[in-house]
Amino acid sequence: MNKFEFSYTEKTEIIFENEAGKLFDGEKVVIFLDNNLSDVFDAYLQKRYFSKCNIISNHKVVVNEKIKSIEFVSEILKKVGDIDRDTIFISIGGGALGDVTGFIASITLRGCRYINFPSSLLAMVDSCFGGKTALNFSGIKNYIGSFKNPEKIIFDLKLLDSLPDDNYLDGFAEIIKYGAIYKPDILINLQDNVGVFKHRNYNELRQIIKQSIKVKYHFVSNDLYDKDKRRILNFGHSFAHAIESLSNNEITHGQAVAVGMLMAARYSYEEKFCGQVDVEKLEEVVRLFFDLETLCKKIKSFNMEKLISYMYNDKKKIGKKINLILMKKLGNCFIYQVNDARKIESFCKKFIQIN
Ligand SMILES: NC(=O)c1ccc[n+]([C@@H]2O[C@H](COP(=O)([O-])OP(=O)(O)OC[C@H]3O[C@@H](n4cnc5c(N)ncnc54)[C@H](O)[C@@H]3O)[C@@H](O)[C@H]2O)c1
Repeated sequence: MNKFEFSYTEKTEIIFENEAGKLFDGEKVVIFLDNNLSDVFDAYLQKRYFSKCNIISNHKVVVNEKIKSIEFVSEILKKVGDIDRDTIFISIGGGALGDVTGFIASITLRGCRYINFPSSLLAMVDSCFGGKTALNFSGIKNYIGSFKNPEKIIFDLKLLDSLPDDNYLDGFAEIIKYGAIYKPDILINLQDNVGVFKHRNYNELRQIIKQSIKVKYHFVSNDLYDKDKRRILNFGHSFAHAIESLSNNEITHGQAVAVGMLMAARYSYEEKFCGQVDVEKLEEVVRLFFDLETLCKKIKSFNMEKLISYMYNDKKKIGKKINLILMKKLGNCFIYQVNDARKIESFCKKFIQIN
């Protein structure tokens, strides 16, 4: 299945590079291009996809978390040029650029068209799909945003060639998450083929990307607006967003999710929701892709009270409660509200000490 329907009007088509025909011929496009992909654009993407379209403007963006801001949006909107509602906003980049481009497409002229070329593994397996856009605001991660499904996502694995190793490994955090919340087979596949995945075998990657999108669709299809089942996809993310923000983004999203999932799993064990074996299995897989010691050393320097206050500011809070996604067993997670911040604070301190 290549067309994923969310409602009568909301659809996203998944296209791999070998199936992409003359997608943009005769279209008007505004491109937001990760600066690191400028050479690939000139040497390959331009001819492959954009030779017969009207490029209204092409913006090379130096990407970091700071571009997810109102200031950046306001500056770049002044430069987009002569657009109308049929203009397609195109993101060629990772999750941060996709979040911003989707947001711009959703607000400009009350909604323009939007297509995504994810260029990082994390963007391919997660952020490009499901329609969440986001900006950070006042130190709070993803505080502003909208829902805007891309009409198409083009997976061109050639884009991964230039992705630095650390950013590449970040993608495995979200893939591991799909194993933890729904398909434990994914964890076994990662364990059995860790070398293949680390060497970026594109056939294996194509399969795991397709599988990831299907798992995400399972959670998003009937809950596009994140009221219920979709929240399970936030496994580990309440901890992760707080860690990311406190580290001033020195710890990447993928790394923070890797640690955050283990925190959620251990918390589940301490609350007697799941057994130790499941926590250990998850930790084994996480350790194949992430250096937990170094990450926890960094996190140790954080003020734990501040970490909690970031968790309270997380969008997943409801009233004065912190919403966590906890685990019953690998493949089965649920939403749980914690009322007592001190309990989480002491748990976080303990977690960091023993890692
Ligand atoms: N909207 C969603 O559903 C969703 C889901 C998960 C994550 N996110 C967001 O995605 C962001 C993380 O995404 P990410 O991991 O892709 O990081 P990113 O977009 O910040 O990119 C990380 C780094 O990799 C570089 N890069 C990306 N692709 C490259 C390539 N092909 N070659 C060379 N360099 C490349 C970027 O320039 C940047 O320096 C976070 O802001 C997170 O909040 C959103």
